[in-house]
Amino acid sequence: MNLHAMSRQTLIHTGIAAFALCLLTAFSAPAHAAAKQPPRAESNKGDYWLGKEIYEEICFSCHGIKGNGQGPSFRSSRPRPQVFTSSYMKRMTDDYIFMIVKFGKMNVLLDKTKGFKLKGATPTAMPAFGEVLEDEQIRKLLKWEHGITTGKKIKDEESAEIFKDACSQCHGLAGRGDGERPRGDQPLGKPFVSEIQPPPMNYTLKEQMARFDDEFLFTLIKYGRLEATTVKKFDFMKAYGHILNDKEIWGVVRFVREAFVNGKSRKKK
Ligand code: HEC
Ligand code: HEC
Repeated sequence: MNLHAMSRQTLIHTGIAAFALCLLTAFSAPAHAAAKQPPRAESNKGDYWLGKEIYEEICFSCHGIKGNGQGPSFRSSRPRPQVFTSSYMKRMTDDYIFMIVKFGKMNVLLDKTKGFKLKGATPTAMPAFGEVLEDEQIRKLLKWEHGITTGKKIKDEESAEIFKDACSQCHGLAGRGDGERPRGDQPLGKPFVSEIQPPPMNYTLKEQMARFDDEFLFTLIKYGRLEATTVKKFDFMKAYGHILNDKEIWGVVRFVREAFVNGKSRKKK
């Protein structure tokens, strides 16, 4: 940051740095507690075959029979359904997937989960930046991020600086979703499991970025994940706890993990 030029830009950047610091402070306490007990993606809980049955009855219609996020009705939601075969999913814990299916994504992010707590990870909604970024800056930032996804990087120093100050602690300096926050004190396993759930997006994954249109991304960055859904009415993963019991949900977690995330479906029993 150029400290000599007291331009409006500099002030905005200083604001972002302060805001980023607030975020870090706000999130640092649970992150520290979680560091002692690193999240684990696999718990080996749940019946694979029971899960397969349920998946092919309910989940396939959006997430696809092959877990590629393109079931018969995948076009009807914004954002589009999660792609289970993407490497992004390796950073998601079984516990988080269980809670998402039981309570729905919004309730997990709002911590309305009837006493169920995520083990070793912190539910974290993508924050709002409407107070520190102008609409035009957000639009430029999106274009710049698009360059990371396509591999054709755009030269835009202002966006690069905003990204470094306000986004990189979660999304990583190169936009791969591997900043300080999701990593925490975990050993550098390959791939690591994120301390933040859902894991911050890795912009280099084309199959993930294809789930979002520009309007959704703009709203997400300006208003944050919670308001994008509660006020702006963008979609989210709904709850299935009223039709599935815990045993069935663990089954589905096991099936999604093995068949799609690990890519090893079992042979017929
Ligand atoms: C009506 C469509 C629909 C159905 C049916 C559905 N989902 Fe989803 N699911 C979505 C959408 C849309 C998202 C993306 C939400 C987002 O990005 O905020 C999603 C996201 C997810 C996620 C990832 C959450 C995250 O934070 O990225 C998991 C795990 C998941 N679904 C599991 C399931 C399972 C298991 C079933 C079956 C019991 C199921 N879903 C049924 C639409 C659906
Ligand atoms: C406190 C951590 C954190 C910070 C800081 C942060 N993000 Fe995110 N971001 C997330 C998380 C978590 C998700 C996953 C959201 C989800 O699936 O609901 C995400 C997702 C995204 C996505 C993909 C859309 C999606 O729903 O997955 C984009 C684009 C994005 N962030 C942009 C930004 C930009 C630009 C900044 C800085 C101005 C930023 N983020 C700062 C945590 C963060």
